[in-house]
Amino acid sequence: MRADSTDPYRLSERARRARSSVIRDLLAHAERPGVLSLAGGLPAPDAFPVERVGAEVAAVLAELGPTALQYCRTEGVDPLRAVVAQRTAQAWDRAVGVEEVLVTSGSQQGLDLVGRILVDPGDVVVIDDPGYLGAVMALRAHDARLVGVPVDADGLRTDVLEDRLRAGLRPRLCYTNPNFQNPTGAVMAPDRRTHLAALAERYDFLVVEDDPYGDLWFDGPPPAPIAAVSDRVVALGTGSKLLAPGLRVAWAVGPPAVLAAMAVAKQSVDLQSGTLAQHVVARLLADRGFLAGHLERLRATYRDRAHALVAGLTTHLPDVDVAAPRGGMFLWAPVGQPTHPGQGPIDSADLLAAGLPLGVAVVPGSAFAVDRPADSWARLSFATVAVADFPEAARRLAAARAALTTAPAPAHVSPV
Ligand SMILES: Cc1ncc(COP(=O)(O)O)c(C=O)c1O
Repeated sequence: MRADSTDPYRLSERARRARSSVIRDLLAHAERPGVLSLAGGLPAPDAFPVERVGAEVAAVLAELGPTALQYCRTEGVDPLRAVVAQRTAQAWDRAVGVEEVLVTSGSQQGLDLVGRILVDPGDVVVIDDPGYLGAVMALRAHDARLVGVPVDADGLRTDVLEDRLRAGLRPRLCYTNPNFQNPTGAVMAPDRRTHLAALAERYDFLVVEDDPYGDLWFDGPPPAPIAAVSDRVVALGTGSKLLAPGLRVAWAVGPPAVLAAMAVAKQSVDLQSGTLAQHVVARLLADRGFLAGHLERLRATYRDRAHALVAGLTTHLPDVDVAAPRGGMFLWAPVGQPTHPGQGPIDSADLLAAGLPLGVAVVPGSAFAVDRPADSWARLSFATVAVADFPEAARRLAAARAALTTAPAPAHVSPV
C-alpha cells in the first residue's frame, strides 16, 4: 500500500494532533541578526554562573569519580533531594521529607508527568488564561480538556473559578503559575492563594503550583506558596531560571503517593535526570553564601532591564498602559489597543509581522490564550536585551505600530 504523501511515516494520531510550539516558530524569525528580541523566553546568559558550574563539575568528579557518571535512582540523587526538601520546608514552614521530592528533567517534565498520572482523556484541567504555553501543550498532549480561568493583576481569578465550580465544573487539576506569571508577570494575591486551597479541598482537585520565577523578585519576595496552606498541591520548582536551563535539573514536591506514581512514569520516559548535573545543582543550592550573592546579581540584572523596558515604552508608546513588573522576566502590555477614537484594535500578531523588518520582536498575546482572546496584548521579555538597547527596541515597536495604523495589515508570519 502506498504511503500518504503528506504523512509518509504514518505518524501516530497523537503526534499528528500535536502542533509545534508557536514560540519556537517565532524565535526562528526573532533571532535574526539585528533584531532586538523581546520575544524570547530564555533567561539572561550573562547571568549564568559559568565558572562556578565548571568548578563544581570538577569537584563532583574528583569526589565521586565514576559514581557521578553512573545511573542513579529515578527519584534523584540524595544530596539534591535533601537540599530541595530543606529549602521547601523553609518556604512552606513545615517539615518536608526527601520522599516528598522527585527530581525531574526540567519542570516541563514535571508537567508531562502530572499529565500522565493524573489526567484521563477528557478530564477537565483548569489553567491560567492567558497561560504558560508549555503547560497548555503538555496537558493537551494527555487529552486534558483545558478550561481557562482569567488572570488579572492579582493572578488567577479564584472568584470566577468558584462560580464555575458552583455551576458544576469538576476539574481534576488546576494549573497555575502564581509568581511573576508567564506571560503576564502577575503575582497571585495571598487571599486568592488561600481561596484556591479551600476550593481544591471542597471540590476535590489538585493544584499544580508551577514556580520557576519566584526567586526573581525586585522589591520583595512573593507571598507564601499555596502549598504552604494545602496538602493538595504538586509544587514544581526548577534550577532553570535560578542557575541555568541547560542543566535540566528541576523538582516536584508533593504528596508522596502522587510523586511515587510520577516516578514510575518517569522511568519509562528517561529513567532518571542526569546524575552529574544533579550533583552540581545540589552543591550550588547548598552553598547559601554563593546562592545569596548570585540571586542578588540576578535580581539586579532583571530589575534594571525591566525598568529600562518600562522607561522605553513610556517614552515611545506613552498611550500604552504599562504596569511595571515586580519580578520575573516578562511584561504584558496592551500594545494593540486603540489609541484614538474610531481606531480599531491592532492584532499583536500583525505587530510582530510589522516589527520584524524593523528589527524588533514580541510574542503575540494569542500565543498564550486558552479560552479568551488576548489579541491586542503582547508578552515582552526584558531578560536578554541590554539596558542600553531598550530605548531603540521601544522606538522600533512604536514605528511598527505607527505603520499598522497607517497601512493595511501585513500577512501573518508564523502560525499565530
Ligand atoms: C511557567 C513555566 N513553567 C515551566 C517552565 C519550564 O522550565 P524548565 O526549564 O524547568 O523545564 C517555564 C519555562 O519557561 C515556564 O515559564
